[in-house]
Amino acid sequence: MEKRFDVLVVGELNVDLILNTIDKFPEMGKEVLAQQMTLTLGSSSAIFASNLSTLGASVTYAGKLGYDNFGEHILSSLKAKGVDTGNIMHTTTHSTGATIILNFSEDRAMVTYPGAMSALALVDVPEAKMKQARHLHVSSVFLQPGIRKDIVALFQRAKALGLTTSIDPQWDPSETWDLDLKALLPFVDVFLPNAVELKALARVNNLPEALEYVRQFDGAFVVKNGSEGAYLWDGKSMHHQRAFLNTQVVDSIGAGDSFDAGFIYKFLQHKSWQECLEFGALTGAVNTTRHGGTGAFEDLNLVKTIAASTFNYTF
Ligand SMILES: Nc1ncnc2c1ncn2[C@@H]1O[C@H](COP(=O)(O)OP(=O)(O)OP(=O)(O)O)[C@@H](O)[C@H]1O
Ligand SMILES: [Mg+2]
Repeated sequence: MEKRFDVLVVGELNVDLILNTIDKFPEMGKEVLAQQMTLTLGSSSAIFASNLSTLGASVTYAGKLGYDNFGEHILSSLKAKGVDTGNIMHTTTHSTGATIILNFSEDRAMVTYPGAMSALALVDVPEAKMKQARHLHVSSVFLQPGIRKDIVALFQRAKALGLTTSIDPQWDPSETWDLDLKALLPFVDVFLPNAVELKALARVNNLPEALEYVRQFDGAFVVKNGSEGAYLWDGKSMHHQRAFLNTQVVDSIGAGDSFDAGFIYKFLQHKSWQECLEFGALTGAVNTTRHGGTGAFEDLNLVKTIAASTFNYTF
């Protein structure tokens, strides 16, 4: 059957309200001023969806918003990047999620209100929605209790319907890392944690032990490691990809999501693991040349221009 979309993203939705150039860090009961403010599309899954769409895949999004201005802002940001929002639902029980980020010198403090994203559940992703796409991607599973509870069932259903699948677990704010990988990963084609998340999930102390741990799995296991690059266990052997050198990093917000977008873009085209890994490293590095998670992905021409001019890479 002809599919309407390449990818269905099931994920969290929130805005980032970023306050920059703060005089000093606020003390309880006092007020400080910020010299600059930005309101942007925040969530990891949405950055992935936007940037994958910019690269050229057709993407639909299943998520939850409240009936408010932040929800409207998210919808228009996704639409502007060509992401289909027909599977996004609204709830009256929660407001749209938001992260308030205080950027202070090189450091930052953040507070997240999960809001409507915590209300998304398995019933919101029925078979009819899944059948529209040929690939399922889930990110930020620990921010979505409704999805995490049934995560194995969700991936099992996707595989039964013939979809390929990927998941980026992202950070667990509770740091309990309660995710049964042995039950889940048989239904996952590409697992995409970063090195710190993998160590926590595998309950090991260092990267070599974590890389040893992944060898028990048959599917593809990607381990992102910032400016050091990324590893890939393809079920038989381990590959390493060095990061593309960026000597002038603007920020690395969303680098992992942009890596995921590049990797999955090539995976959808049935390219070799090595090619998926290299393109993921490229799009991760491209991400670091502009502010935020989507700044370098305004359109495909900009991505190509940055790839050629900063990383001497043409595609
Ligand atoms: N400073 C950098 N220079 C070049 N490439 C980078 C840099 N930082 C990240 N990358 C690329 O992006 C990939 C993913 O980055 P990272 O390991 O930070 O993922 P992550 O921790 O999942 O990020 P996120 O915070 O977006 O979730 C890296 O494997 C690397 O290829
Ligand atoms: Mg990440």
